[in-house]
Amino acid sequence: IQHGGGAQEIVLVTGGAGYIGSHTVVELLQQGYFVVIVDNLYNSAEECVNRVRELVGDRSQFLAFHKADICDTLQLDAVFRKYKTSAVVHFAGLKAVGESVAEPLKYYKNNVAGTLNLLECMKKYDCKKLVFSSSATVYGQPKSVPCMEDFPLQAANPYGRTKLFIEEILNDLYESDKTWRIIMLRYFNPVGAHPSGRIGEDPAGIPNNLMPFVEQVAVGRRKELSVFGKDYPTRDGTGIRDYIHVLDLAAGHVAALRKLAVTPDIGCEPYNLGTGRGTSVLEMVAAFEKASGKKIPLRISDRRPGDCAEVFGSTKKAEEELGWKAKLSIEDMCRDQWRWACKNPWGYREHYAAEAHKS
Ligand code: NAD
Ligand code: WQD
Repeated sequence: IQHGGGAQEIVLVTGGAGYIGSHTVVELLQQGYFVVIVDNLYNSAEECVNRVRELVGDRSQFLAFHKADICDTLQLDAVFRKYKTSAVVHFAGLKAVGESVAEPLKYYKNNVAGTLNLLECMKKYDCKKLVFSSSATVYGQPKSVPCMEDFPLQAANPYGRTKLFIEEILNDLYESDKTWRIIMLRYFNPVGAHPSGRIGEDPAGIPNNLMPFVEQVAVGRRKELSVFGKDYPTRDGTGIRDYIHVLDLAAGHVAALRKLAVTPDIGCEPYNLGTGRGTSVLEMVAAFEKASGKKIPLRISDRRPGDCAEVFGSTKKAEEELGWKAKLSIEDMCRDQWRWACKNPWGYREHYAAEAHKS
C-alpha cells in the first residue's frame, strides 16, 4: 500500500500505544510521516491510540493501528506485507526490572525473541532502517558520570540484559550486512506527559518508577512516597538521575530517523537521550510539590537493591551528530505530569469505567 500520494515515508512503530511510543507517534504524524502502530496492548490501552488520533486532527488519516504481537511471525508478516515500510521505531518490550528478576524467561522471550522476529521480518521485506529503544540501564553502575556512549556496558538484571543482548545482536547484524542503518537510543529517565493532558504514562499496579509513584500520591491513590535511601554520597543523600521530558524524547526519535535517512553508512550507533543534568529524589519531589501545590508525604526507607547513587548522561554525541538537544526543564516535566494526573487520576482506566457505566 502506498499512502499520501506515495511520497510519504511509512514508519512502523512497535509499542506505539505505550508511554514513549504514543508521544513519539504524535510527533511523527505532526512531522508528516505515515505511521503504522503494532502493539499487543499488553501494557497499554487502545484509548491511548484514540487520543493520539484526536491530538493530531486531520493527520490521523495517516495513522494505522494493528493489535499484533511482535512475537507472532504471521501477524507481523501481514503488517509488513500490507505497508511498504521504510523504517521501524522499535519500542515494544517489557520494562519492569523487578518482574524481570522473577520471570526472566518472559523477558528474554518477549524482548529478545520478539526483536529477532522483527529483524527477520525487516530483512525479508528489505526494510533495514531501525531506531531501537535501548536504555541507560546498559551502563550498569557507571564508572563515572556523565555516561558516555563508549563506556563499558554491563547489566544488573535480566531486563537490562535484554537491552544489552539486543544491542549486541544489532551490532552483529550490521557487521553481517552493511546495508543496515541502526540507531540505538539509550534513554535516561523519561517523565512528563503531553501538554494537552490527554496522553501520559499509565502504569498497571504499583508503579516502579519515581514520578508515577509521586503522581499517585498527589492524586490520593497512595498514602506516601518511600524514598529509597538517604545515605548516598550525593548532595542531599538521595539518588540522582537524569530526568528527561517525554516530548524531548519523542523529538529525539524524529532526529534519529532523519539521521538514518541521510546517512547510508551510519552503521549501528548508540546515542544517549538525556539532559546531561542530574536531579535528586528530594529535588524532584520539591519540584512536583511546587507544580501541583500538593504536599507529598515521605518516608525514608532502605536503599533499593541494585540502585546507583548518581546516573546522568553526556548529551554531546546526540547534539553533534543528531542535532538534537533536550529543551524542557524539570518544571515543565512536573507541570505536564501533574496536568495529566489531574485530568486522568486513574489513567486510561477511567475512560473504560465511564464507558461501562453508560452501557
Ligand atoms: P510501555 O510499556 O508504556 O510501552 C511498551 C509498549 O510495547 C506497550 O504498549 C506494550 O503493550 C507494547 N508491547 C510489549 N510487548 C509487546 C509485544 N510482544 N508485541 C507488541 N507490543 C508489545 O513502556 P515505555 O516506557 O513506553 O517504553 C518503551 C520502550 O523504551 C521499552 O522498550 C522500554 O524498555 C524502553 N525504555 C523505557 C524507559 C522508561 O523508563 N520508560 C527507559 C529506557 C528505555
Ligand atoms: C529514580 C530514583 C530511586 C521510586 C529505572 C530502570 C531503568 C530505566 C528507567 C528502563 C532512584 C528513587 C524510586 C520510589 C524512590 N527503565 N525512587 N522511591 O531506577 O533510575 O531507572 O527506570 O529502561 O532501567 O532501572 O528510575 O524512577 O525507578 O528511580 O526513592 O518509589 O528514585 O531509588 O534514585 P531508575 P526510578
